[in-house]
Amino acid sequence: MKRVEKVGEESNINKENLIKAIGDLFAGGTETTSTTILWTILYFLHHPDKQTRCYKEIQDIIGSGRLPSMKDRPSMPYTQAVVHEVLRIVNIGVFGLPHSVDEDIIFHGYHMPKGTVVIPNLDSVLSDDKIWGDPDVFRPDRFLDENGQLVKREEFIPFSMGRRICLAEYMAKMELFLFMTTLMQRFEFKPVDPDNLPTLKGVFGITHAPSKYEVRAIPR
Ligand code: HEM
Repeated sequence: MKRVEKVGEESNINKENLIKAIGDLFAGGTETTSTTILWTILYFLHHPDKQTRCYKEIQDIIGSGRLPSMKDRPSMPYTQAVVHEVLRIVNIGVFGLPHSVDEDIIFHGYHMPKGTVVIPNLDSVLSDDKIWGDPDVFRPDRFLDENGQLVKREEFIPFSMGRRICLAEYMAKMELFLFMTTLMQRFEFKPVDPDNLPTLKGVFGITHAPSKYEVRAIPR
């Protein structure tokens, strides 16, 4: 910014844009990850076997004596599969962000004049029976191959797709891996009342978030 100012160049690299970009990072970067963590814990309350399997992987690869690090991630396909399955099933950014077409186009027979607002429905892919078979079932194994390794599926689009895909996809996955493994290494999550589990029905706001719930975090 200083260099551009110094040479007096006409540029968008200015204070106004810097403030907006920082605002975008805060807005896009806080609720998204924290909401996904809340969903993961909620799904663990409903699927304790999956929590146990993640904890076993943590014990096998990291143990209890040190913090998880990104170097551990490639050796922990099940934990990664859990993160993927939570992102798929809860789809926190249901309608992505609105975009508009910058020229007249015809798409699948529909004429869209320049300026038409387009709102992608990510859920139509993430919950498609034809793609996933049982989209309403929480099944992290769908992201593992027969050797237990993580598989990339092109229909996995919680971060949207194309040129305006979430610019923090890699960072968000990194945060989710580190936060979740650190939490699970230290706590076991249990329901307050096992006969009355908190609902998996979410609330739609800026993101698709879980309804408020209580959980017991028991130190390991
Ligand atoms: C679980 C985590 C996250 C999910 C599921 C998610 C999902 C999304 C989605 C669906 C979009 C819309 C893409 C489109 O317009 O087609 C988006 C955009 C964006 N996200 Fe994320 N996001 C996550 C985390 C983050 C984090 C951690 C940051 C920042 C540190 C972030 C910053 C942004 C920004 C700035 C945009 C707008 C990009 C643009 O318009 O070019 N997101 N995200």
